[in-house]
Amino acid sequence: MEYRNLGNSGLKVSVICVGAMTFTEKGWRSAGRMPFSEIQKVVDYAIDNGVNFFDTADIYAFGESEQLLGKALGSRKNDVIIATKVRGVMDEKDPNNRGLSRYHIFKSVDESLKRLGRDYIDLYQVHWWDNHTPIEETLEALNDLVRMEKVRYIGISDFAGWQITKSVLLQEMKNYSKFISAQMYYSLLGRDIEFEVVPACEDLGLGILPWSPLAGGFLTGKYTKDAPHPQDSRYARMERPFLRFDFEKAYFIVDELKKLAEKYNASVSQVALNWLKAKPYVSSIIIGVRSLQQLKDNLGCVNWDLSGEDVEYLDEISAPERRIHSGF
Ligand SMILES: NC(=O)c1ccc[n+]([C@@H]2O[C@H](COP(=O)([O-])OP(=O)(O)OC[C@H]3O[C@@H](n4cnc5c(N)ncnc54)[C@H](OP(=O)(O)O)[C@@H]3O)[C@@H](O)[C@H]2O)c1
Repeated sequence: MEYRNLGNSGLKVSVICVGAMTFTEKGWRSAGRMPFSEIQKVVDYAIDNGVNFFDTADIYAFGESEQLLGKALGSRKNDVIIATKVRGVMDEKDPNNRGLSRYHIFKSVDESLKRLGRDYIDLYQVHWWDNHTPIEETLEALNDLVRMEKVRYIGISDFAGWQITKSVLLQEMKNYSKFISAQMYYSLLGRDIEFEVVPACEDLGLGILPWSPLAGGFLTGKYTKDAPHPQDSRYARMERPFLRFDFEKAYFIVDELKKLAEKYNASVSQVALNWLKAKPYVSSIIIGVRSLQQLKDNLGCVNWDLSGEDVEYLDEISAPERRIHSGF
């Protein structure tokens, strides 16, 4: 396993992080269900093969994901890095059980700690921007959590470039604990973050944590143009696509990935994950799996690299359209 620093911090994380959005027996959105026995196998195999980083969120199955992750980690729960998040709606009826107010952050952190069975959270992430709370209030509350030792590091998720810059500059001005990571959607089918978010993060020292690195499983090669989606796959379960992309272009990219997979005697997923691994600003890739078999496949992306030429070829065929003309 390869370990990288999480942004400018000294924290070493495995280049693969296991995401726990699928850790739910009752199901949540299109993530699907997983029996606890399979979750246990996934967590054990991941740790035994060098993964030291797990990501969850309070809203994943409304706390069930945090709870099952804590249960599966068992006595090893303090040996790994756990990241979780705050911001989503935890109770439709309670206007204060959501958002990034000091009130909600303080309430949520205690509830997450309880569900995880931990005394501290390694990486506490704000899940997305809150237009109804001054960012100064959020940053002060997060800084206090670090001082109280409930949280060791803090990060953002799904912020725009300007939101990252404004937040980190405020943290610097006020001498607060600074964000060290940015969890963002990033895959061969979605490279928008390269325009504004990646340059901001590189400048300010945040490590990128790509989520849905296989575009929800599309980049495994299991979806084909002329056949119905495989039964019980995420795209078959989804009423409408969660991630938007051009399907024609996506099928072409998958066909090219298949050729590379053959060349490297690897799977399509492994090639897609390897392309992300080649990006120096990526600290760790947050994969999602629903079985031990999928985990074994995806972990096969470590310990080898695509050639520079092949990375460039994938860069070229997946290049996003530049929507803003910078004048350069
Ligand atoms: N911050 C955010 O806003 C945000 C949003 C989304 C996710 N996340 C994080 O990112 C993590 C990963 O997201 P994701 O689950 O969307 O990631 P993903 O890796 O793009 O998709 C994972 C899904 O693809 C399928 N799959 C994965 N490997 C496969 C393989 N080798 N062969 C066949 N199918 C395979 C499985 O779905 P099926 O078997 O059901 O088809 C699996 O659940 C989450 O757990 C969460 O921690 C964060």
